[in-house]
Amino acid sequence: MNIGLLTGGGDCPGLNAVIRAVVRTALKRNHTVTGIRNGYKGMLEDDAETLTRDHVRGIIYRGGTILGTSRTNPYKEPEGETRILDFLTRRAIDALITVGGEDTLGVAARLHASGVKVIGVPKTIDNDLEGTDFTFGFDTAVNIAMEAIDRLHTTAESHNRIMVVEVMGRHAGWIALYAGIAGGADVILVPEHPFDIEAVCRKLQARHDSGQNFSIVVVAEGAKYETEGDVDGTLVVRSMEQDAFGHVRLGGIGSVLAAEIEHRLGYETRSTVLGHIQRGGSPTAFDRMLGTRFGIHAMDLVETGRFGRMVSLNGNRVVDVDIAVAEGRVRYLDPDLYRLAEMFCE
Ligand code: F6P
Repeated sequence: MNIGLLTGGGDCPGLNAVIRAVVRTALKRNHTVTGIRNGYKGMLEDDAETLTRDHVRGIIYRGGTILGTSRTNPYKEPEGETRILDFLTRRAIDALITVGGEDTLGVAARLHASGVKVIGVPKTIDNDLEGTDFTFGFDTAVNIAMEAIDRLHTTAESHNRIMVVEVMGRHAGWIALYAGIAGGADVILVPEHPFDIEAVCRKLQARHDSGQNFSIVVVAEGAKYETEGDVDGTLVVRSMEQDAFGHVRLGGIGSVLAAEIEHRLGYETRSTVLGHIQRGGSPTAFDRMLGTRFGIHAMDLVETGRFGRMVSLNGNRVVDVDIAVAEGRVRYLDPDLYRLAEMFCE
């Protein structure tokens, strides 16, 4: 078989482990893999090449994706679906493996409904995809954020400051919660629970009254602050410009919060935005392993003709679910984990 392979959406540590696993498994089983460049953009622009053993040599420890990626949405392009179908015919591709988040997999589900033999592999550092317990990339992002929090602790302590760390997490607070608990943060703010700035300041004041002279606040980029009469909370955005899937650019809640804390409490406060540092660099062993297992399972699905499926982690077992499961749904924080954060924060 000739299997098309693409990575779409934001990059994420562990993508190369998936690519390597798909190519090595395919070659062992006498199939061909056509690597499509820059997500769906490569299909629209006919940008693809056959992947060999050499392409995937020495890539498991590399971050990013050797195939490149984009947030191109073919359904927003003129004749998008027809051009995709033409590409598959022209390149004689029998099946397509798409590695991506909610948007990429949403497009994959639509293509499958139009008759394309598709398998989805879930990825996002945010870990907020429905249908899988974990996505690869998340563990790496959490470790990077945790290490940053460790470092901020020592400087916060030396200067008697409050440090606000803004981490990624558009809809859900998985990174903030995991990194915050592992890094011993004093306040953790997540998108699922709009926060009251007054209550945050009360918490910090109580901690400082009890003799502590520094604090660490972890805030997810998608965390919202409550304003009078608005229970849903206000989101801080960097730009209202939308990508092809309608997402605005988030960011800035950390500095808004830091300024407000300093203004209300009078303690010197600084903010740090980790941003794309959380997405770059070498994946952890967990993410390399998960990416590898997902890639092999995707190939098993292709070989057994089980299309329209998304590879998934259930407990510690790699299984598969309907590819449409992740579309338009966010996997919010587990309430039990959130209670854990409440217990460990002041
Ligand atoms: O979806 C993953 C993510 O890292 C989000 O946490 C973040 O809001 C977004 O991607 C950033 O996207 P971009 O790389 O396009 O700025």
